[in-house]
Amino acid sequence: MTLVLGIDSSTQSTKAILVDAESGQVLEERRASHPDGTEVDPRSWLSAVDEAAGPLLEKADALAVGGQQHGMVLLDESGEVVRPALLWNDTRSAPQAQTLIEEMGGPAACVEEIGSLMVASFTASKLRWVRDHEPENAARAARVLLPHDYVSAHLAGLDLSASSEEPFTDRGDATGTGYYSVRTEAWAPELAERALGHGIVLPRLPRTPQEVMARTAGGAALAAGTGDNAGAALGLSLGPGDVSVSIGTSGVCAMVSEAKPGDETGTVTGFADATGRFLPMTTTINAARILEFGRSLLDVDWDEFSRLALSSTPGAGGATLLPYFDGERTPNRPAARATFTGLSTATSRADVARACVEGLLCSLADGIGALEERTGTAARRITLIGGAARNPAVRALAPAIFGREVTIAPEGEYVALGAARQAAWALAGTEQPPSWEITGSEVVSAEATPQVLEAYRELKDRTESWS
Ligand code: XUL
Repeated sequence: MTLVLGIDSSTQSTKAILVDAESGQVLEERRASHPDGTEVDPRSWLSAVDEAAGPLLEKADALAVGGQQHGMVLLDESGEVVRPALLWNDTRSAPQAQTLIEEMGGPAACVEEIGSLMVASFTASKLRWVRDHEPENAARAARVLLPHDYVSAHLAGLDLSASSEEPFTDRGDATGTGYYSVRTEAWAPELAERALGHGIVLPRLPRTPQEVMARTAGGAALAAGTGDNAGAALGLSLGPGDVSVSIGTSGVCAMVSEAKPGDETGTVTGFADATGRFLPMTTTINAARILEFGRSLLDVDWDEFSRLALSSTPGAGGATLLPYFDGERTPNRPAARATFTGLSTATSRADVARACVEGLLCSLADGIGALEERTGTAARRITLIGGAARNPAVRALAPAIFGREVTIAPEGEYVALGAARQAAWALAGTEQPPSWEITGSEVVSAEATPQVLEAYRELKDRTESWS
């Protein structure tokens, strides 16, 4: 049996799955956790991957790594870490993103060049933050990698020094840096240089999505890997018009598209996918943690939280939550905080739980709407994935808030599965990735409750000037 290893180095943990390359069946799974925080020593991802993937490595014929997008891994001349990596959900570089947009000639020029409107999450704005606040670290930096590049390089034992041409990334993750041009389909090193203040070594890009980029010491083929969202799209075998809605630390709505997206408002980012197409996407910083907030505030377990939410009525008795607890990226309100309105003495614990679930789903419904509007394509199918997709209240209320049928994918590590599928593709060297069937999806429907989304949007508009 040919075996491939798929790895997901996510914000919270590393997941590694060993998969039958023929059928896509997962045979073994291991994980190891990462430290908390929006600023993390990237070497902790290497110990996590050793722990999670180490014992599976020698069984695999090929492997690939999916990883949290955007994170800035700064290395010095000899390949040593300069400072902790700033992650995608670290909003400190919001002013720098603004400055970079202005330097590029404004929003339209920025979107034309990099495919997206720069926000704090993008690697380039983090580079500028380092230049502004830690000039000595900026001066030491010689190379910048993304999380998945850094983990891949470790697994292949690559030389990370500035003179080496070994480290690599992929087009999907490169489009989240802010220094890859979707106009020329190549690095725009001058943008990285402008962000940091001096030239920096960038990783190699594959010529094709199924290229073998390196080999491990044991001889296994290493594919390019990709960002986690492109990884999930590949794992779910999404086709053009299919939308995935992932509820994890971030809330991501992504649609596979043949056409290059572009949104000057910044709502939809225009990343690439891992197959040579595009993956227009909306990303919120607040997702599963909205539910965690409600659950811990009410001091109940998850079963009781869902039961409470489902025992309230649509609109939560008038309570509406705009859930921007930790600032927000979509819409771009980095300094925002959450707003609860419509509370009265009649508001119950059930209403509070319901408002949390509705707030989360409304924020995702806005994402789906924005994708459809920007691409001019109605979603062909909406598939829910991520930890919170298992929550009974989320499953029951998603079709009501989205106003349509929702497919719930069976529990699985889709980013790691996408990485495994890319590895199998690289091994086969075929034109198309292998067809792996996902069995056990559930389709749920419900009566639509558009009034809930209307109340949410009204609150969103009303608070626009608050941050
Ligand atoms: C996407 C994004 C997040 C991270 C973390 O732009 O920032 O989804 O990839 O998972």
